[in-house]
Amino acid sequence: VAHELERWAGQAVEGHFSGTIPWADYGEPAAMLAGRLVGAQPGEAVMMNGLTANLHAMLATFWQPQGRRRKILIERGAFPSDRHAVRSHIGFRGFDPDEVLVEVGPAWADDVLAEGELEAVVEGLGEDLALVVLPGVQFRTGQALDVRRLTAAAHEVGALAGWDMAHAAGNLGLALHDDGADFAVWCSYKYLNSGPGSVGGCFVHSRHHGRDLPRMAGWWGHRPDTRFAMAPDFDPSPDARGWQLSNVPVLCTAPFLVSATLFDHVGMETLRARGQWLHSRLRLAVQDACGGRVHFVTPATEGEHGCQLTLRVQAPVRQVQTLLREAGIVCDVRTPDLIRVAAVPHYNLARDVDEFAVALRAALDRC
Ligand SMILES: Cc1ncc(COP(=O)(O)O)c(C=O)c1O
Repeated sequence: VAHELERWAGQAVEGHFSGTIPWADYGEPAAMLAGRLVGAQPGEAVMMNGLTANLHAMLATFWQPQGRRRKILIERGAFPSDRHAVRSHIGFRGFDPDEVLVEVGPAWADDVLAEGELEAVVEGLGEDLALVVLPGVQFRTGQALDVRRLTAAAHEVGALAGWDMAHAAGNLGLALHDDGADFAVWCSYKYLNSGPGSVGGCFVHSRHHGRDLPRMAGWWGHRPDTRFAMAPDFDPSPDARGWQLSNVPVLCTAPFLVSATLFDHVGMETLRARGQWLHSRLRLAVQDACGGRVHFVTPATEGEHGCQLTLRVQAPVRQVQTLLREAGIVCDVRTPDLIRVAAVPHYNLARDVDEFAVALRAALDRC
């Protein structure tokens, strides 16, 4: 960030076309690194806007209600912004959200989703279903969904599948291209360390490239070779870059580039293996220390979770959080009784995991 500010001080607008990474090209390394993180082929990933704005952009293209095929399926416990985006988008396009939106999953949002149930609902909706939008990792429970299986279920009935990868990017070893996702959106400020509200990510599968699809357009979506000719007609990049709206926000993409380079350097496979190991150790340590006083909400099976572990505690959760904080541990709580903690392979050690378990027991003892 400091480097780019220096460039602005010294070069002003010329920074667009000079320097190691000219600002006009700043999106290119960001897109390449993002693509590797999510298992995209070249041209399928792009960093732009924020997650929610990207979801709207994707809905504008990939939700094309036709005849009876118009329903959008989301999970009942979806992150509120996703629900707001989908409902408002449906209304904005002149349809009734109550009629179009189907919400599936446990009535109590803290329970895990049954993938078989999701598949059954998708199959039941059949030709009425236009699109499913699901999370790669559910934000409350930490449950990881099977992208390939659920995307295939949507495709089976002729619908499309879009994914919210906010809690999955930089956490799971994603394979969005091979798993067949039509689109995905994510943010860069959870596992990707780019700072609150930093630039979002977007994936568009290559099967949708080079097509004249309806979209929200902006000048940065125009082909880079003729973008600065400033011609009135829109000639979009044939790949995911064709959905860009604005200039790349350099000051928030700079930390993303640094963070994504570290991910690239270590490799998602290595990080994932170590993340799994830390997660298992965390579960065992908490089990040993706290026994029946905590319930594990996050599924234990490998492949059904990432770094996050959600615990239900039989104690006032805010008080537990305060006591953990006093022991130097930062985690998140969801009232009435959930604690979300993540042992992250880039910067957590086995020692942190063990200390957490001991501190949790001490906190529970004092509540
Ligand atoms: C699962 C999920 N979806 C969507 C969002 C919204 O992201 P943004 O505010 O970057 O649009 C968040 C933010 O925390 C999230 O966790």
